[in-house]
This record gives sequence, C-alpha cells and structure tokens, in this order.
Amino acid sequence: MSTYTLDTSTSRANPTPAPMRRLTVPKLQARKGGEPIVALTAYTARMAQLLDPHCDLLLVGDSLGQVIYGLPSTIPVSLDMMCAHGAAVVRGSWHAVVAVDMPFGSYEASPAQAFESASRVLKETGAASVKLEGGEAMAETVSFLVARGIPVIGHVGLRPQAVNVLGGYASRGATNAETAEIIGDAKAIADAGAFAIVVEGVVEELAVEVTSAVACPTIGIGASAQCDGQILVTEDMLGLFERTPKFVKRFDDIATRISDVVQLYAGEVRDRSFPGEEQIRRRTK
Ligand code: KIV
Repeated sequence: MSTYTLDTSTSRANPTPAPMRRLTVPKLQARKGGEPIVALTAYTARMAQLLDPHCDLLLVGDSLGQVIYGLPSTIPVSLDMMCAHGAAVVRGSWHAVVAVDMPFGSYEASPAQAFESASRVLKETGAASVKLEGGEAMAETVSFLVARGIPVIGHVGLRPQAVNVLGGYASRGATNAETAEIIGDAKAIADAGAFAIVVEGVVEELAVEVTSAVACPTIGIGASAQCDGQILVTEDMLGLFERTPKFVKRFDDIATRISDVVQLYAGEVRDRSFPGEEQIRRRTK
C-alpha cells in the first residue's frame, strides 16, 4: 500500500470511490475570474472523504490548533502536527488539491528554513502545496520555494499568526494606510509566484481591490463574494461551535445534533436497552 492510499480494508473506511484524477495547482490557478474555487479546511481522513467530492481545495489549516487541540491560538501549532494531519487528509481525498499550512516559526527565519520545512511537508504528506502567512516580508521566501518546486498559497489581511502584533482578530483595511499595506502585500506575494492568495478578514471593498490587483486567484474568508473562491473552517460552517465570527455562515447546527444523539445513547446505556438484540451475538449451540 502506498503511503498516500486509503486503507479500505478497515471496517470504518468507505468503499473506495472510482479514483478521480486529482485537480492540479495550474488548473486551480487558471480559475482566476472564472468558476469560483470551493475550499474548506480538513484535518482528518474521514472529514476529507466527505468534503473532497464537493471541493476544489482542501486546506489543512493551522486552525487545527484551536479546532482539534483546544489551543488558544495557532501560535503553538507544530510542524509535526501539520504533517500528521496533512497525511491523513491526503489519504482521505482523491479529487481536491491539498494545501498544508506552514505553522508559526517553521518558515519566517529565512528562505532556507522555509524550504526545509515545506519540503518535509510535501514529502511526509503527499500534499501538493503549502500556505504561508505574510506579505512583502515573505515575498523572497515565496519566490525561493516556487523556484524549487513548492507551490505556495499566500495569506494576507488578517493573519492569525500575527495576532500578537495585530492585537487581536479584528477586520482589517478600514484605513487608507492598512488598505495600501494589504494591497502591497498581495501584489508582492503574487509577483513572487504564489498560485493563490487567501484574503482574510478585510472590508469588502479592499477584497475586491486586491482581487483585481493580482493575477492569481484570491480565496476569501470574511472578505467578499467577488473573490475568486471562498474558504471557511469546516467546523464553523457546520455549526460545531456556539460562538462563531460574524463572517461565518452556520449552514447547520451540528453541535445540537451531536448533543441530542449522545443524550439518546446515554439514555439507552443507562436503561440497558443498548446493546439490543441486533448488536449482540449469542452462542449458537
Ligand atoms: O488555518 C486556517 O484554517 C486558515 C483558513 C481559515 C484560511 O488559514
């Protein structure tokens, strides 16, 4: 079995769907101004299986720090965590391009450090690309990676890894100075060779300006429907958390559903109606 193939012999695996040809980075890049790119985060193989047929891009976001590990921010997330979850998502998908977030501290020091970390991500996960946060300051690094065979998605606007510099997670681009800075960041990353740019938490006018200022697709989150694609944290849009940011649309209320189902289970355990006849085996003789 190849490192990247889902083991369908385990009882919890889905029957393997007819293997689809995976989308490629150049095909996603060519979607600028065309059919919107559908992107969601994924951290596990099973969730990847469920999302993959509907998505063009699966991002193994460092938001897994908060969503999976209950950490207070993305700052403590490690490269080991990203590699483990990245490999799981690649094993659970056949169709979408998989991108893995470079965690804080794994790429900022130098282009060489970024190459060492990003090449490890690609080797250990089988993902096709990485995402890193930052604008002009990261342009040299983006160009270094792309020139060495590592496709990069940029991330400008609200940058969660910069929470300590920005002072929080407030929307950006309300002032002329911030607008100029973020447009400059997006252009620098695009010119350096990023094949797409996540534009997070900016006023809608700025998201539109950035989208027309760069040649690569923009993928909005808390930005604008005019971006070339959209991304959300899957657990946010499923309604796993009671509190969600303003830009998140809760397409479901999965938290309530889980709670109701677990209450049902607890009741059946307590009144000894589970396991029932269908779930037990008896001696045959
Ligand atoms: O970490 C993440 O999930 C992200 C997306 C929200 C864009 O960066």
